[in-house]
Amino acid sequence: MWNLEGQKAVITGGSKGIGRASVLEFLKLGAEVLFTARKAEDIIKFQDELLAKGYKVKGMVADVTKPEDRQKVMEYVENTWGSLNILVNNAGINIRKRAHEYSEEEFRKVLEINLVSPFALSRELHLLLKASGNAKIINVSSAAATQDVGSGTPYAMSKAGLLQQTRSLAVEWAADKIRVNAVSPWYTHTPLTQSVLEQEDRLKSILNMTPLKRVAKAEEMASIIAFLAMDKSSYITGQNIVADGGMSVKAI
Ligand SMILES: NC(=O)c1ccc[n+]([C@@H]2O[C@H](COP(=O)([O-])OP(=O)(O)OC[C@H]3O[C@@H](n4cnc5c(N)ncnc54)[C@H](OP(=O)(O)O)[C@@H]3O)[C@@H](O)[C@H]2O)c1
Repeated sequence: MWNLEGQKAVITGGSKGIGRASVLEFLKLGAEVLFTARKAEDIIKFQDELLAKGYKVKGMVADVTKPEDRQKVMEYVENTWGSLNILVNNAGINIRKRAHEYSEEEFRKVLEINLVSPFALSRELHLLLKASGNAKIINVSSAAATQDVGSGTPYAMSKAGLLQQTRSLAVEWAADKIRVNAVSPWYTHTPLTQSVLEQEDRLKSILNMTPLKRVAKAEEMASIIAFLAMDKSSYITGQNIVADGGMSVKAI
């Protein structure tokens, strides 16, 4: 059971960073994957690389905030697979500013992508997940959900909300045989964090706060997501696995 053989998975934000590493991890473990993102060029390039390796994969241009795009995801799952085993709500963004400097459009955008869209997609795929008889939702939250790490208030709010979404859905959908868990990464090398990690003083302060003294690799998050998607984690639901190199347990 240390594999995902025969499992059908949707991974949002699968063209870059943690989502991309998860797509690869899932395929290597034997899953069939539908991944989404917004930029067609990145999606086609990654999809073609994977198809050339013989994997069963489909990349789709689908913005998680657009109802018509989520409908395309649902129709693909329904028509191709008939049911769904795994949904990874990974797509996320950040706009870093001081609270009073955001425009309303900016802070609503962060909440829309990071918090509202996972709820919308989980709800819309609920019947297809339930139909599999053994489904898993994995929400990618953040260390910023539980501590102020200078990521900006809307991002922190969105990720904290995603944790409670995880807990509430886990309880509500347990009867439907759907497990719901979250993963909370700390700083991980991806395009999202590149501009922060390039600043020498910021990187120094992050490493000072991190007992393992390094920033994570996207693959280290993908392996946790894969574990939560496997039957090897079959008694875990409503939980949040914090992958932060020890940051949250360090006092001084
Ligand atoms: N990297 C970290 O240090 C870190 C730490 C804590 C939590 N996280 C969380 O981990 C998740 C992945 O982050 P990452 O660092 O891998 O980010 P990333 O490198 O920026 O990749 C984000 C992915 O999501 C896609 N995406 C963004 N907005 C989307 C939308 N509206 N609809 C569909 N796809 C969308 C992007 O592609 P397009 O731009 O083409 O849409 C891309 O494929 C996020 O939820 C993030 O908050 C990351």
